[in-house]
Amino acid sequence: MKLGDYSGKLVIATHNAGKLREMRSLLAPYGIDCVSAGELGLPEPDETGTSFEENALIKGRAAAEAANLPALADDSGLCVNALGGRPGVYTADWAERQSFEGEPGRDWYMAMGKVEGMLAQHGPDVDRNGSFNSTLALVWPGGEYAIYAGSVDGHLTWPPRGSKGFGYDPVFVPAGSEATFGEIEWEEKQRVDHRANAFRKLVEAEF
Ligand code: IMP
Repeated sequence: MKLGDYSGKLVIATHNAGKLREMRSLLAPYGIDCVSAGELGLPEPDETGTSFEENALIKGRAAAEAANLPALADDSGLCVNALGGRPGVYTADWAERQSFEGEPGRDWYMAMGKVEGMLAQHGPDVDRNGSFNSTLALVWPGGEYAIYAGSVDGHLTWPPRGSKGFGYDPVFVPAGSEATFGEIEWEEKQRVDHRANAFRKLVEAEF
């Protein structure tokens, strides 16, 4: 079966609003009835894996088991060449704010600043290239699964520009563009980004 032949319900196993918007929109042409993990009130599992694939499977398995439906999960992140591929699988963690008086939460501006600060330590001629990577896990309630990975190359710019995307979008300039992912229309971003490239493999696959 190909994705286009599936006519049942599918859980989008994410609580991230930016990813959810992209994944819903990628799935929309296939007429699949999608519901998100958040809408089902599913808890967010701990991402204890050390690779995108492991974490995508943790999220996909948790949602597929809890909802008894096929689930599509994404684990993604920014890999910066000069930082040895970091933050990589820890991209979301780098935005984790310490909670003193305020609410704990994620601070993307702080996270982008942390990447920039580490790049700056390498001097003005540092290699600013990197990539966004996405690994999609399609998991069935019985435990069968398939994995599809995609990436997009680009470079990091500073200061951040644009408010159309999410996460690290304002500092990422995809190869061949001058605009950041935060500046281009999100419909355009989701035609060319890492998740779209992984999703294309899912669409072509037989499972
Ligand atoms: P995780 O997959 O839940 O571990 O989170 C990955 C993190 O990578 C997200 O929370 C974002 O900060 C970042 N990220 C992944 N994809 C994108 C993207 O398309 N744009 C900007 N940031 C992204």
